[in-house]
Order: sequence, then C-alpha cells, then structure tokens
Amino acid sequence: MPKLLQLQHIRKTFPGVVALDDVSFSIAEGEIHTLLGENGAGKSTLMNVLTGFYAPDSGSLLLDGQPVRFSSPRDSLALGIGMVHQHFMLVAAHSVLENILVALQGVPLFFPRRQLRSRIEQTIAEFGIELELDTPVWQLSIGAQQWIELIKLLMRDCRLLILDEPTAVLTPQEADKLFQVLQRLKQQGKSIIFISHKMREVMEISDRVTILKKGSSVTTLEAGEFNQNKLATLMIGGDRIPEWQKSLPFSDELVLEIENLAVRNDRGLADLDNFNLQLKKGEILGIAGIAGNGQKALAEALTGLTKVESGRVLANGEDITRSCARSSYIAGIAHIPEDRKAIGIAPDLSLDENLILKNFRAKRFRHGVFQSRSAIRNNAIEKVDQFAIKAGPQGSPVRLLSGGNIQKVIIARELSEQPTVLVALYPTRGLDIGSAEYVHKVIAEGAGNGMSTILISEDLDELYKICDRIAVIFRGRLIGYADPTSSSREEIGLMMSGEVSA
Ligand SMILES: Nc1ncnc2c1ncn2[C@@H]1O[C@H](COP(=O)(O)OP(=O)(O)OP(=O)(O)O)[C@@H](O)[C@H]1O
Ligand SMILES: [Mg+2]
Repeated sequence: MPKLLQLQHIRKTFPGVVALDDVSFSIAEGEIHTLLGENGAGKSTLMNVLTGFYAPDSGSLLLDGQPVRFSSPRDSLALGIGMVHQHFMLVAAHSVLENILVALQGVPLFFPRRQLRSRIEQTIAEFGIELELDTPVWQLSIGAQQWIELIKLLMRDCRLLILDEPTAVLTPQEADKLFQVLQRLKQQGKSIIFISHKMREVMEISDRVTILKKGSSVTTLEAGEFNQNKLATLMIGGDRIPEWQKSLPFSDELVLEIENLAVRNDRGLADLDNFNLQLKKGEILGIAGIAGNGQKALAEALTGLTKVESGRVLANGEDITRSCARSSYIAGIAHIPEDRKAIGIAPDLSLDENLILKNFRAKRFRHGVFQSRSAIRNNAIEKVDQFAIKAGPQGSPVRLLSGGNIQKVIIARELSEQPTVLVALYPTRGLDIGSAEYVHKVIAEGAGNGMSTILISEDLDELYKICDRIAVIFRGRLIGYADPTSSSREEIGLMMSGEVSA
C-alpha cells in the first residue's frame, strides 16, 4: 500500500525530559495503525509533533513522499491531518453546534449556517452517532464530548485521523460504535492512528501496530504477526508487573448504607432514584453498569460533590445525610474522579504539591508553622517509586505529565492516608498494563487492611478479577447483586441493560 506519511528519526526534548529519543514509522493509505506503549512512552508527544503542535528537535516528516514541516496544527489540518486529543478542547458553555462551527471557521464551505447545520446532522446520521446539536457541552458525558471532536474532523474530510486513547472515555458499547465508524472511514481509504492501552481492542482493530518504549520505536508488526502476549511482552520489555493476591473474605460489618437515595442532575432529571446499597468492611464492591446510568451521581453524592434530594446515607450505622458529621466523614473518603484534569488535580501546581493536597496540614509535612519542603519532597520521591510515576523535572506543573501519569498521581494521593472508604470511578482508565495491575494491588491490599471500596467500572474483566460482589446499576437504580465467582458475563450483561434483575 502507498505510504501516506513517514516519520524518520524524530527526537523531541523538553527541559529536563527526553520525551522522544528516536522514533521512525510510517502510515499507509487506508490502514488502522495502532501505537502502543507504557504511560509516558511518548505516544501523545509523537502525535503532537506529527500535527505540528510541537516542533521536533530533529528528524523529518514526509507526506506523500515529500518533506513537510508543520509549524502549527493549522498547517497539518490544511493538509488533511486531524487529531482528537486525549484531553478535549471544547468550550463548555457553548452548544455542540457552536463548538463544531468554531472549528470549521476559515474553511471555505460557502454554506449559510442553516445548511451547515443540516450537513453536520447528515454526518452524525451517516455514522449513526447520537448527539443533540443544541445541548451545551458541559451537560454532556465525556464520551459524547469525544464524538464532537470526531465530528469536527469528519466535517473537514481529513485523510489521516489521529485518535489519542479515544476508548478510555467510552463505554464498551460506545467503543464498538467507534470501531464501526473507524472501519467505515478505512473503507473510504482514510488512514487512522489509534492509541489504546486495551489489548482486546488493539487486537480487534489494528492492521499494524508500532510499539514505543521510552521514546523510541521498538518495532512494527502486521496483523497475523502478533497476539496479546507478544504485544505486552514487547511493550513492557524488562519492566516488572506487580503481583498481588485477593485478600481474605470481608467481614459482615456494614460501613456504609445507602437508603432510597435520590439525586437530580442539573437538568432536573433523576440521576439516582430510590437507590439502595450496602458496603461491608474490607469489601471490594463493584458497580457495573453502562456509563450514564447514575454512577457519577453516586460517587458525587458519597463524596459531597452533589446535593442529595432525599434518602439517607448511614456511616457505621449513623445517619450522616444532613448532619454536621457529614463533612468530616466525607473528608476521610478517598475519591478517584472520572474527569481527572477538571477535578482530580491542581494543574499548575507541582507533583510534590499535588501529592499532599489532601493532607498538607498533617504534622509530618510541617515544621512549626511552616511547611517542611524536605518532608514534602521525600513523600513525592516515595510515591513516584511506588507507583512508577514518570515525573518531569522537579517543580514543573503536574499538567505536563502524560495522561496516565496524572492518573497515577491522583491515585497515589488518594490512597496515601489509608482511607476507610474508597470511591473509585474507572480508576484504571488510561493506565498501561503494569500500572493498572499496581492499582489493583493497592486496592486488594487496602481491603486486607479493612478499607472498603466502591469500584465503578464498565470493564467486566476488571470487576471479575478484583471484586467480592458486583452490584448492577441501571437508570439510577440498583438492579441487584451478582457473585463474580458464579455469575456469567451474559447474566451481568443482561442486568446492565435492565432486562433482568437478580
Ligand atoms: N509539554 C511538556 N513539557 C514537559 N514534559 C512533557 C510535555 N509533554 C510531555 N512531556 C513528557 O514527555 C513524556 C512523554 O509523555 P507523553 O504524554 O507523550 O506520554 P504517553 O505515551 O502519551 O503516555 P500516556 O499513556 O500516559 O498518555 C512524559 O515524561 C511527559 O511528562
Ligand atoms: Mg498520552
């Protein structure tokens, strides 16, 4: 197949970091090419170089055999290369339509707004995507926001589409939909660069896979030459994968009870309705469900981020729904939120500071009335080692870390104070295999020490592996509990779609 784009010996450094050392690979016309590599391997940086967001220190790009130099993403877009970023670039207060129109500005489409609207609607319908054009972006799920980014590129008729971990924010159903869209684009002769940490997906969709390790391209393999194990081995190289074992059975003591809880969302609709749940000491309780069925409201109600309309929350038998004990109880709950960049970190603070956001008042981080720099630094050194965080130069803002490494910072911070309850939304999204395993290890060990976990995930493999019980949520209600040792995927799947209850 003719080569669309070639990258040769790309190198990119930032102050104190070699993000890309020496990367070469090529994209053929009409192929789906996957980039695989651990957190911080350089995948996003490479894509940012490719689209002209960053200038490489050295190396070259050839488009249709001709050398090209992009000095901004506008240049690459003009030549038909578009990217959906790991962190979206949308205006939250504007509608879906407005966000798409802004992106199309400067494109000679010669259509009045009404015609443009119907063309956008056509594209949405052509690919079978569900998206309401007049909804403000802040009301949409992260998955829906990603569709907007994709539609922007589809409207521009790009030849090469780059998707940086698109499925990390999608439900399995949405991911299937996305794969259908990608296959269709491929049939139209378009090329796609796909980034994902999920091996199952990589196996399903890739024509070729290029593996990146610590800023260098290791190898490129064609479909038929690889399987999941081979890819994992190449990607991990000599790095160790943490090992863990599930802890002993949990006790019968109830640490948290939720009774008839109701929560309304910003649009006045019920996110949780008559919701009941019981969490036991040392238990890892999975919440399975298709995203958008109340998971986020549940996590927010438990962590004090949303108002409870009716119902009760009991902590160790005491009603804390409206009592003043609530805030101190909530302060002791660890929370791994879904939207990491928005509510999980303080982006402009350093790694060291982000790691103590929850406990900066603790004695061990103080020296009289002052903060102890050395204690804060030592804490960071310890966490960086435990969680294998790939950190930049000391003191640089945490937002410069790679997506997966930001996620590790949040988890390291939340789990550092040995919380009694952990509420985790999709904690391993965006983590490489080794890091995901480490998070499971920490949760399992925490359970052994009496920590109770509510693990919200759509990944049934993850729930089966680590949970003691699985509760299924559908349309804001608890459908029932399943036992991971005896319930089949099909049974849980049916419960998730609301067709049967246990
Ligand atoms: N603007 C920047 N300034 C400083 N360092 C950066 C910048 N962008 C990326 N880095 C560093 O470059 C390295 C590669 O990061 P990159 O985001 O490309 O990784 P990735 O492979 O996409 O990882 P992930 O799977 O976690 O998304 C990391 O060490 C990161 O901290
Ligand atoms: Mg990345």
